[in-house]
Amino acid sequence: MLKELLLRSRSYRSFDQSFRIDRKTLLELIDHARLAPSSINLQMLKFRPVTDEGECAALLASTKWAGKIKDQTLPPKGHAPTAYIVICADTEVIASAASFQKDVGICAQTIMLAAAERNLGGCMIGSFSQDVLRRDLKLADRFVPMLVLALGKPDEVIELTDLPADGDTSYYRENGVHFVPKRALEDVVIE
Ligand SMILES: Cc1cc2nc3c(=O)[nH]c(=O)nc-3n(C[C@H](O)[C@H](O)[C@H](O)COP(=O)(O)O)c2cc1C
Repeated sequence: MLKELLLRSRSYRSFDQSFRIDRKTLLELIDHARLAPSSINLQMLKFRPVTDEGECAALLASTKWAGKIKDQTLPPKGHAPTAYIVICADTEVIASAASFQKDVGICAQTIMLAAAERNLGGCMIGSFSQDVLRRDLKLADRFVPMLVLALGKPDEVIELTDLPADGDTSYYRENGVHFVPKRALEDVVIE
């Protein structure tokens, strides 16, 4: 069931580092994104799989995680993602990469759901420097990194919860569990 997959497809920030995701698996995930709808069917997004340990370490260092959690470093030491997919705009297909953000979101969620189906998981990361990432991955100038998908075998517990009375949507951690407040159905429907 899609709903069950969606419930499992959380933003994980701690992984079993002994489980390495291989390139073949990343290509299978990217193959799902290839089938996604696309603005004007331009298919201007390209996907850079990352499994090399040095490149994974560089990506971990240049991405920012869980800005709302101030008292812990995430991912915890020894619990890093073991693969990444960097979603890039190909400016040789169209120059104005910024106007295609919606395609990025659709492809990102498609990949994360395909990962959840394989009992993998990860986190979409929008906080990074495009220039640093381009340098670290030796990307050609035509590719603009739009979103990083960190992937691995999750080893943390995440629970969805109702919003507190004050309406704060901030996620938080308590006793080793990561809580994510979600708005109720009646609060997201416009009558
Ligand atoms: C476009 C986008 C960018 C995100 N960027 C980051 C990020 O830079 N760092 C991070 O730790 N989480 C990032 N997240 C994850 C969100 O914090 C997460 O989706 C949110 O807390 C809700 O948790 P859930 O995905 O488990 O429902 C991003 C999510 C999205 C959709």
